[in-house]
Amino acid sequence: MTTPDYAEKIPNNVDLASDRRLQRALESWQPNFLNWWDSMGPTLPTQDVYLRTAIDVRGEGWAHFGHVPMRDYRWGIFLSERNPDRRIGFGRHKGEPAWQKVPGEYRAELQRLIVIQGDTEPASVEQQRNLGATAPSLYDLRNLFQVNVEEGRHLWAMVYLLHAYFGREGREEAEELLHRNSGSADSPRILGAFNEETPDWLSFYMFTYFTDRDGKYQLGTLKESAFDPLSRTCEFMLKEEAHHMMVGTTGVDRVVERTARVMVENDTDDVAAFGAIPLPVIQKYLNFHYSVSLDLFGGETSTNVANYYTAGLKGRWLEDRRKDDHQLTEDSFMVDALVDAGDGEQSIGQTEVLALTGLNTDLRREYIADCEGGVKRWNRILDEAGLPQRLYLPHIAFNRKVGAFAGIEASPTGEQLSADEWSARKGQWLPTDTDKTYVRSLMQPVYQRGKIAAWVAPPRNGINGQPFDYEYVHLV
Ligand SMILES: [Fe+2]
Ligand SMILES: [Fe+2]
Repeated sequence: MTTPDYAEKIPNNVDLASDRRLQRALESWQPNFLNWWDSMGPTLPTQDVYLRTAIDVRGEGWAHFGHVPMRDYRWGIFLSERNPDRRIGFGRHKGEPAWQKVPGEYRAELQRLIVIQGDTEPASVEQQRNLGATAPSLYDLRNLFQVNVEEGRHLWAMVYLLHAYFGREGREEAEELLHRNSGSADSPRILGAFNEETPDWLSFYMFTYFTDRDGKYQLGTLKESAFDPLSRTCEFMLKEEAHHMMVGTTGVDRVVERTARVMVENDTDDVAAFGAIPLPVIQKYLNFHYSVSLDLFGGETSTNVANYYTAGLKGRWLEDRRKDDHQLTEDSFMVDALVDAGDGEQSIGQTEVLALTGLNTDLRREYIADCEGGVKRWNRILDEAGLPQRLYLPHIAFNRKVGAFAGIEASPTGEQLSADEWSARKGQWLPTDTDKTYVRSLMQPVYQRGKIAAWVAPPRNGINGQPFDYEYVHLV
């Protein structure tokens, strides 16, 4: 089945009606989800928003666009089409038919992977809940809400798997996904970056560029999973995720474009006087969001992840394009590490490990290569404006709280620093209170059709062929 059924209380393409128990369980979770949306979702009151809703999981014409009150958004359960011949692509079970049920021996691990993924989805909605109050345009406001409703749908995607395949424990975990909250002192979200606040729109663009992109890579590894329902769920989520990436990429583009223009027109680096965001501040925000997102990939080496791979639970990014045996039992791999510098000191370097234990590093490197694409785009904007300044990705050891470099300090160029040097200099590299206060001072809402705040350029294209000055959101 590929066409979601919208006549159902819970739109789905998994023939929910044929499993009454599951349907009832999900229908009783639904009001809890709506309570969560009301209390933790977007705070800005709106009448309706120009949103896309999935109507088919195939091809290009998969979404319908129209104005809908956000609370009436048809969150549902959509899996990509099933390939009845699909076989496991890697690990110990390579070549065997993909699993339609959860094997008992991998139950706990699969559940854990789904819970961790599921926990990030509502977390970002919570982090972004106040941004509507300061949107730079109706176009941006609409994009924020589109990302929010789809992260809500991604929560549905994971909750469906928990309910359908993990029994009572799965249902309990589904409840917990609504009880943990981003930044909460008693029950925070599982991963660090999802407890950071997203207080302004520069942070939002950086978050959707860097942190949502981590999500893309995690989903990419789960899409390879031998557990077919998880694979199909993630495949469709990746399709929605592409829009979130676009919001981040073009969002940062537009900030850089505006800053560059103000620099050129006024022949100055001090664009704050003209209400734009200085390039060094943009770099600091980039440094922060990039480094906390690198942490999301976990330690450089991990036996858990080696086991997930061998068991077939989680593959590599684009597993089928890799030219090796997809089992990796004989291979080795260089990972980033602190190495003995010979004088009793440790320095930033690399060390050789079993390829299986280095899989986090492999995924992080794929991610880093992707992030370099963003920096290239932004530098092209500076170049085309005739400016010599450039943005860059900081060194992998910079500002890390997880993994090999968690215990040391390093500059964005990879120079190792003492704790004192770090505290003295970190304000040059990470947003200071002054920077944050300045950026926040720019965040004045612009809700008039076709108008935009002074710190960001308008987009080149509207949504779904609509012009920039379209009425994307009707406020209350
Ligand atoms: Fe998501
Ligand atoms: Fe996302």
